[in-house]
This record gives sequence, C-alpha cells and structure tokens, in this order.
Amino acid sequence: GAPAKADISKLEPGQQMIVEWRGKPVWVVRRGEEALANLEKLNDRLADPASEKPQQPDYIPKTAARAMRPEIAVMVGICTHLGCSPTYRPEVAPDDLGPEWLGGFFCPCHGSRFDLSGRVYKSVPAPTNLVIPPHSYEDDNTLIVG
Ligand code: FES
Repeated sequence: GAPAKADISKLEPGQQMIVEWRGKPVWVVRRGEEALANLEKLNDRLADPASEKPQQPDYIPKTAARAMRPEIAVMVGICTHLGCSPTYRPEVAPDDLGPEWLGGFFCPCHGSRFDLSGRVYKSVPAPTNLVIPPHSYEDDNTLIVG
C-alpha cells in the first residue's frame, strides 16, 4: 500500500488528528510538556513500560515517549484486545476515569487503558501496547506513515 502523508503544522499541543493508512486509523497526538512529564510517572502502573514487546519499529526509542520526536505520538488506533477503537482522553483525573488518570486512551468495549504513548496499563484485557506504524518525517511539518 501507498504511504500516507499528513500535514501536522496545525496540530496544537493536546490535539489529536487521525490519518488513514491501509484502511486503519493512525493517531497523531501532539503532547505538551506536562503530558510528557506525566508519562514518566506511570511506569509502575503499566504492563510493558519499556516497550519490550515488539509493537513498534526498531528505530522507535523504548522510552516513555515511544517516539522519534517526543512531542509527537504516532500509533495505530486499534485496541490490542479485540480491535475496538479507544477514545482519546487527554484530561487529568476526569470524574469517570478517576483521580489516578493522567491522560491517555480508554477503550469503551472492555475497559482497557493506555497512556498517551499507547502503553497499556496492568490488569486490563488488552495484552500489549498499541502498535506504532512505520513512519518518518519529510520535514518538520510533514509526517509520512508507511
Ligand atoms: Fe478494547 Fe476489548 S477491544 S478492551
């Protein structure tokens, strides 16, 4: 399949955009400084915080940010449990997700939780982190997926 190209110049911190690639939704999220700092606080609560399972290309750093450019998260928006589409929930401690929630993705089908890097929480149905697709940057504002 052909690569997908996306202009990310208008993506503000905290915003998500969705790029279609090979019939799949690919999420692109620009993370602000607070969101990036919060990622580091979550490691104890995650099943695979260092991304040991091969859910991403080798060139993606196995850091909390799981990204070539820490501020830009790129991941396939399909739950690794049974394939539902998780909801983007960037808020900190919303009423329905509880005081411990520091922003991420919530799957409405069976309650799986992922952080803003797509790292899966412990004790949820989804077994692995969200998939990061192959991607690169043509320039600062142009993402190529595939
Ligand atoms: Fe997402 Fe089951 S499909 S929790």
